[in-house]
Amino acid sequence: MTDYIEELAEVNSVPSELNDGDDGFILEIDGLKVYFELRKRGFQHAGFVQAVDGVDLKLKRGETIAIVGESGCGKTSLMKTILRINTPTGGTITFDGEVINKLRSQGLKNLRRKIGFVQQDPYGALAPFMDVQTILEEPLKINGIKDRKKRVARVRQVLEEVRMTPVDDFLRKFPHQLSGGQQQRVVIARAMILNPILLVADEPVSMLDASVRVEILKLLRTLQEEHNLAVIYITHDLATVRYFSEYIYVMYAGQVIEKAPESQLINETAHPYSHALLAATSDPDPKNVDEFQKVPAGEPPSLVTPPAGCRFHPRCELIEKGLCDVKRPPEFDLGNKHTVTCWLFKDRPIVREFEE
Ligand SMILES: Nc1ncnc2c1ncn2[C@@H]1O[C@H](COP(=O)(O)OP(=O)(O)OP(=O)(O)O)[C@@H](O)[C@H]1O
Ligand SMILES: [Mg+2]
Repeated sequence: MTDYIEELAEVNSVPSELNDGDDGFILEIDGLKVYFELRKRGFQHAGFVQAVDGVDLKLKRGETIAIVGESGCGKTSLMKTILRINTPTGGTITFDGEVINKLRSQGLKNLRRKIGFVQQDPYGALAPFMDVQTILEEPLKINGIKDRKKRVARVRQVLEEVRMTPVDDFLRKFPHQLSGGQQQRVVIARAMILNPILLVADEPVSMLDASVRVEILKLLRTLQEEHNLAVIYITHDLATVRYFSEYIYVMYAGQVIEKAPESQLINETAHPYSHALLAATSDPDPKNVDEFQKVPAGEPPSLVTPPAGCRFHPRCELIEKGLCDVKRPPEFDLGNKHTVTCWLFKDRPIVREFEE
């Protein structure tokens, strides 16, 4: 163990290994709701944006999952709630053995130390007036590593891990002096610097040139394997998922509508929305950049007044009137860890019913 990790272990009480519950899940989300209140008009209550509405999710150490869905379906809201940037409106989130719904100050600091966060826009994520070394030293300082030499040693180590070498060429560079891909490597280095157990990557390559997307995804994959990290990979693009996710959650309008192991979801796609999403995927391989991405026909629904029944029914070609537009489908079991919330599968066993 390096000095740096020993020092962190002193700063933070219980080592995470001792903390992850009996069944080995480091993250368990149960019936999560995240609603945003709309600004009131005079005295009139304007309603809520139901950004996440009844999501369950489980993740073990070393597992990688992808959350896939088109723009506005609640992916970032979900991720920000795991980081407790948002506060849950309902349901529970248990992370590393602890319910995090109501954490405050020191509790939040400990939580965020254990979760590395990579966001979509690397330039926006980096303070423009700080050089790479200052950016990467900051989390170490905040977490009580007082010895400058140890901090610098860790910064160098993590820059090597994200393949920014020779390190001396980069330490004194400012974000605007780096390419998009290099900026994202710095963001990844910062996410890794406190040795997290979970990495959340929210559209980590969607703002990058096609030519560097695959490299960045491969880097994330390597880090995941070397550190036995749990990873939540958020994307609107199913094609990039195969670069590392073992399990896929498809989200639509704030809800998970299908989940399955990666190849199962791709080959045995069940939900009509997943079919549409799959038909619309691009390929992150630069050889195929010209294959333009389409989205499924129609508009995603309002999350303030979502459609009754199945939220996808207004766009669904296979709608059963009187059922799909009336009653929210439960989660049906298709076997092989594959479930779907769609009335087409009503002859299958129910694994979860939802409150209306
Ligand atoms: N702080 C907020 N206040 C009010 N509404 C919000 C807030 N954050 C998100 N929303 C709304 O919640 C819904 C879900 O947004 P979210 O950003 O989670 O979607 P997303 O799936 O990440 O989309 P994208 O693919 O475009 O990033 C949207 O309707 C959005 O406008
Ligand atoms: Mg988002």
